[in-house]
Amino acid sequence: MCGIVGILGQHEVAPTLVEALRRLEYRGYDSAGIATLKDGRLDRRRAVGKLVNLSDLLVHEPLAGKAGIGHTRWATHGAPNLANTHPHRAGPVAVVHNGIIENYRDLRTDLATKGIGHETDTDTETVALLTRHFMDQGLPPVEAAKRTIERLEGAYALLFLFDGEPDLLVAARKGSPLAVGHGTGEMFVGSDAIALAPMTDRVTYLDEGDIAVVTREGVTITDEKGNTVDRPVKRIRIGNTRVDKAGHKHFMAKEITEQPAVIGDALGHYLSADGRDVTLPGDGLDFSGFDRLTMVACGTAYYACLTAKYWFEQLAGMPVEVDIASEFRYREPPVTPRTCAVFVSQSGETADTLAALRYCEGKADTILSVVNVDESSIARESDLALPIHAGAEIGVASTKAFTCQLTVLLLLALKAAKDRGAMSADDMADTLSSLRGLPATINHALELDDDFAKAARRLSEADNALFLGRGLMYPLALEGALKLKEISYIHAEAYASGELKHGPIALIDKRMPVVVMAPRDALFDKTVSNMQEVMARGGKVMLITDHAGAAETDEGVWRLIEMPEVDPVLAPILYAIPAQLLAYHTAVAKGTDVDQPRNLAKSVTVE
Ligand code: F6R
Repeated sequence: MCGIVGILGQHEVAPTLVEALRRLEYRGYDSAGIATLKDGRLDRRRAVGKLVNLSDLLVHEPLAGKAGIGHTRWATHGAPNLANTHPHRAGPVAVVHNGIIENYRDLRTDLATKGIGHETDTDTETVALLTRHFMDQGLPPVEAAKRTIERLEGAYALLFLFDGEPDLLVAARKGSPLAVGHGTGEMFVGSDAIALAPMTDRVTYLDEGDIAVVTREGVTITDEKGNTVDRPVKRIRIGNTRVDKAGHKHFMAKEITEQPAVIGDALGHYLSADGRDVTLPGDGLDFSGFDRLTMVACGTAYYACLTAKYWFEQLAGMPVEVDIASEFRYREPPVTPRTCAVFVSQSGETADTLAALRYCEGKADTILSVVNVDESSIARESDLALPIHAGAEIGVASTKAFTCQLTVLLLLALKAAKDRGAMSADDMADTLSSLRGLPATINHALELDDDFAKAARRLSEADNALFLGRGLMYPLALEGALKLKEISYIHAEAYASGELKHGPIALIDKRMPVVVMAPRDALFDKTVSNMQEVMARGGKVMLITDHAGAAETDEGVWRLIEMPEVDPVLAPILYAIPAQLLAYHTAVAKGTDVDQPRNLAKSVTVE
């Protein structure tokens, strides 16, 4: 969602602000803008649409100055038009904001009684108006910003720049992440380390409720009680924050092909030296102390949890509930004391998942998270945070983070099976040995790229598609449908194969492609029966199976793609590849924006 950057520099900042915004593009946005101070005077440039529109504008109407702020906006309050584009300005103050000011209507009403009107549809404008109001009353900029922040309800990351204050930025974090970057005689503020990476590798992450007063000399941070606090300066790993496409046409393509390597990395972090056991950081976890797992996430991460449910139940005999975070957080579900609550999130900042985590605090025995961003809010608020080691994921559609989430969750299920005496050490070692071979098998699956591209060309002609799967392949079918709809805009739904005749079969006709994910496992024959039911009604089946499955498949299948053989327990990780490649090539065939699909944001920091 919205990206924020701020610079107090030694040189002209406009080009660096735009470059930083480019690195934040992956979060999803629909307009962008910057404001700078030249000779102490605020000025701004804003443009609707892609960042290139802002760059073009700056060519014709450059902005000078060595202090500035920038923003990519993902519209929440008000359409993505110029008036609503950040930075918002009221007299001597310019503000950029990520999040939602929930009480902005009350604030507007209050301002109106003072004769202060608004000009935009945004909640953010009220922050600028209120700050100007306090400055008009004689408060200095920092105090005016602080007084404004005291009045705000909701979730926000805010950055203020003031007329006549070329050595000052004020940053505030509550609910949306913000980091301060340290340079030499320069200071930076950004939504994440990716934005800051080219400028500095020394970063201070703000905590909830922190307000940072930034000058070129350094930063003074106060916590939510107003006490001055020392937050650590951390070295970020630049290698992990590279955002180039490495020769690929899209980040998504690059990230799909990275999967063998990053899954290998994840395994390297969690396997014992002899490869026969799973080791967790810190004091680890003992699953024999838990009665149940409650797993909560959104979107693709939710499907990773659904897959894990099968693993924990089948391998470890452990009861598992899986919930969508936005439902869980308001349902007031009972959380029993011997529950391990697990939160899965690539970004670690998803607002609903974070709220669900906070709901479980003090109720569950242990808060465990599985995240890609080590310093994220979800990681920081967990008893134990397990990184998935996928590296920066830039494509909005999650690919390598999904398979790394699955890998870490499978390792946890195996550990649970061993802790609870449900699996012998030898059986565990055997499965771990298959898992070590998985990156090579995924490489073979990636060699089928052309086959998926051909199949996708046909799929791209469809208006609708169905995905079917049974058992471990059911969550994968859901993931395949989500991937297809989010990047190709083809309407796609997924069903457990056995559910087909309870309603969705009515949709089947000769224009309906049905993608069936089914390795030759114990449930294969049942899925084949469901496939026959589709074909008998003229439906076009695209079967993704293995050699044994292909050998047992009758003629009449529209398209058949043969995957490498794999241990059935690992099949969801391997079969994520066809789900991703089909969606990717369909989107390419349709010419949609693969890496930044319309309306979507990478890091969903509002509910
Ligand atoms: C789909 C996708 C989203 C995310 C969801 C949760 O490709 O990426 O559905 O999985 O928004 O995001 P995280 O994992 O960051 O909590």
